[in-house]
Amino acid sequence: MVFNMPKKTILSGIQPTGVFTLGNYIGAIRNWASMQEEYDCFYAIVDLHAITVRQDPNVLRRQSLDCYALLLACGLDPAKSAVFIQSHVPAHSQLSWILSCYTQFGELSRMTQFKDKSSRYSENINAGLFTYPVLQAADILIYNAHYVPVGADQKQHLELARDIAVRFNTVHGETFTLPEPYIPKEGAKVMSLTDPTAKMSKSDDNANSYVSILDPPEMIMKKFKRAVTDSDSVVCYKEGKDGVNNLMTIYGVATGMTNPQIESEFAGKGYGDFKTKTGEAVAEMLRPVREEYARLSAEKDYIRDCYTAGAERAAAVAQATLREVYDKIGFVV
Ligand code: TYM
Repeated sequence: MVFNMPKKTILSGIQPTGVFTLGNYIGAIRNWASMQEEYDCFYAIVDLHAITVRQDPNVLRRQSLDCYALLLACGLDPAKSAVFIQSHVPAHSQLSWILSCYTQFGELSRMTQFKDKSSRYSENINAGLFTYPVLQAADILIYNAHYVPVGADQKQHLELARDIAVRFNTVHGETFTLPEPYIPKEGAKVMSLTDPTAKMSKSDDNANSYVSILDPPEMIMKKFKRAVTDSDSVVCYKEGKDGVNNLMTIYGVATGMTNPQIESEFAGKGYGDFKTKTGEAVAEMLRPVREEYARLSAEKDYIRDCYTAGAERAAAVAQATLREVYDKIGFVV
């Protein structure tokens, strides 16, 4: 007899604070698309998270819509997955308040992202920046997600989400599924092209340090040609060769090649050739995204229909979880 096992659930999110980088794509988004058949997927543009740093309202609105279209261009299929804008599903914020009462001040103080952002934005260390990981836990737990596909930088936030879930379940009985991070083996932390000891980030002041996934091929080539490497000129993956290791990881993801294969392809050749080939491979990997985005960005009505339907689908699940939580904690439902 064949049993139809229910699909496991996936949730992930991304901030609409600019065009996604190659790091976002390799570390997270490319995996989101590939999980849509096997899992019940929820993917959010997390605009509530974005306002922990001051945003221009018009820019935020435009970027949220552009980023939504960009997710579809990266292969998210709104017929298969709930692709939505976080603020359209108010249950996230409602659960976040409740979970904040199950989160310790000390736990939040230990979050490295809070420490980084509060030193970077020292003029605006707001409470939202501090409680950010609680909202992220709510995003995940409200769908009872089994897996959360993210880059390595989100690991600490996921551990906290699990701790909050365990604490709540211990007090009130089995309620939340304990989520597990799904961190790719290759490319979990794509590094800056100008400082390979720092993470590639779209908020970097130096635009040569990151590749945006909509950069035209000439710009991608230029950025890779300028990428920081080292003074020995041998293409091999080895401790201390941060720049080359990063480029090898990127090239490996873009071509499907292993490190030994890459090392033999470039044996006896200099870095110039390697950087050119990496640029070409990345430009080619991102070509379908660029083309699909150009097509979709004119389809405003279609995009609106997609995010409206995505929010309805997500809200139905989120609302049911919230009601269960209200009941368990003693609210009159
Ligand atoms: P955000 O918007 O900074 O990044 C989105 C995703 O991209 C990954 N990423 C990277 N991966 C590899 N190399 C890099 N250089 C790189 N830069 C970014 C991130 O790990 C992430 O997976 N807090 C989250 C958003 C969020 C979320 C959630 C994620 C809110 N709620 C619930 C998962 C589940 C963030 O700021 O991601």
